[in-house]
Amino acid sequence: MTDIGSPIKIGTKICKNRITMAPTVKFATDDSGLVTDEFVAHYEERAAHGCGLIVVEATCVDKTARLHPTQLGLWNDEQIEGHKKIADAAHKYGALIIPQIHHGGLGTHPECGPLTSPTKVKWNSGFAESEAVEMTKDDIKRTIQNFIDAAVRAQKAGYDGVQLHACHAYLINDFASNVNKREDEYGGSVENKARFGCEIIEGIRKACGEDFIISARISGADPTIEESLEVAECYVKSGCDYLQVSCGIGEFNMMPHDEKLPYNRIAALGVLMHEHFKGRVPVSTVNGFRDVEKVRYMFENDLIDTIDLACGLLADPAFSEAILNDTPYVKCFNCPACGFGPGHSHPCPAMKLRGANEFASWS
Ligand SMILES: Cc1cc2nc3c(=O)[nH]c(=O)nc-3n(C[C@H](O)[C@H](O)[C@H](O)COP(=O)(O)O)c2cc1C
Repeated sequence: MTDIGSPIKIGTKICKNRITMAPTVKFATDDSGLVTDEFVAHYEERAAHGCGLIVVEATCVDKTARLHPTQLGLWNDEQIEGHKKIADAAHKYGALIIPQIHHGGLGTHPECGPLTSPTKVKWNSGFAESEAVEMTKDDIKRTIQNFIDAAVRAQKAGYDGVQLHACHAYLINDFASNVNKREDEYGGSVENKARFGCEIIEGIRKACGEDFIISARISGADPTIEESLEVAECYVKSGCDYLQVSCGIGEFNMMPHDEKLPYNRIAALGVLMHEHFKGRVPVSTVNGFRDVEKVRYMFENDLIDTIDLACGLLADPAFSEAILNDTPYVKCFNCPACGFGPGHSHPCPAMKLRGANEFASWS
C-alpha cells in the first residue's frame, strides 16, 4: 500500500505527494502564444488545492507547429516572463511544475503551418486531410534544437523541468510509431525510431544540467506494448527521469481489455510500464480517474507511482484535496464538454455547479 500523501523523488527533486495535474490545453491565448493572467490563476488554484506536480498544458516550441492558433508557446524569449508567473504561483504552494513542450507534427493546425512528419504521408489531423511534409535531416536538427531552446527558456522561467509531449500522434510520437518509414538513422529499428526523442532528451540534459526534471509523456502501445517499452527504455537511458503513460497512434484499439480491471485500457498501459520500470524511474498513469475511490484503489494496490488527473481537476480543482483529505468536491460528469475541438466552447456542468467562471470559453 502506498500513501497518496507520501513524497516521491523525481529526478533530483522531491514531489510532495502522488497527485499530478495532467496537461490540458486551453487554447486561450492569441497568436502571440503569451501567458495571460487567466492561465496563472488557473494553475495557482490547482496548486493551492494540493497537487504535488503540475504539468502545464502542451506548449509549442515552434510557431509554425501549433495545434491551434491560440496555443501557449515557448518559442521565443518574450514568452519567458509569463511562464515565470505560472511557475512562481505553483511554487508558492510547494508544487513542482513543468511545462509540456510540444510540436504538432501530424496534428499541426492548418492555419499555423504544414503537417510535418518523419515520412511523407496522407493524414487527417482532425482539422483537415492533407499530405504531410517529410522532414529533412536539417529540419530534424533544427526541431531538436527548438525543443532544447524551449527547455532552456523553461528553466529561465523557474520551472522544475519539462515534459516532452511524446504521445497522441504529435511529432515525437510520430517518429516512434509506424508512421515512420525512414531509411536513415531516424527510422527502421526501434532504437532508430526513438533517436529523435533521445537526442532531444540528451540535448536538454546537457543544456539544463542534472537538477532539472526531464519527463516524457509517451504512448504505452505504439504499435505494440513491447515496442513502447523499448522506446521508453531508450528515453530513460538518454536521461529521462519520469514517464507518464498515455496512448498514441498504434493499433491499440484492437487490443483486448480485461473487463474485470477497475481501470480502463489506457490506464492499464501505465500500470504495465510501472511494473517494468519499478525501482528505476517513477511512472504515472492517466485516463478515467475522475472519482476518489478509483484513485485510491491504484495506491492501495501499489499499481503506480503517481496519477495524472485531467478532467477531474478541470471540473473542480478541489478534487486533489478530496483525494488527500476526504474533503467535498464536485465530480466530473464524464461528459464531452471539455473535449477537443477548436475553442473548447461547451460549458462544463461541474464547473457551473461550483459557480466557477474561469476561461470564458468553458463557462
Ligand atoms: C480539454 C483537454 C485538453 C487536453 N490537453 C492535453 C495536452 O495539452 N497534453 C496532453 O498530453 N494531453 C492532453 N489532454 C489529455 C489529458 O491530459 C488526459 O490524458 C485525458 O483527458 C484523460 O484523463 P482524464 O480521464 O483524467 O480526463 C487533454 C484533455 C482534455 C480533456
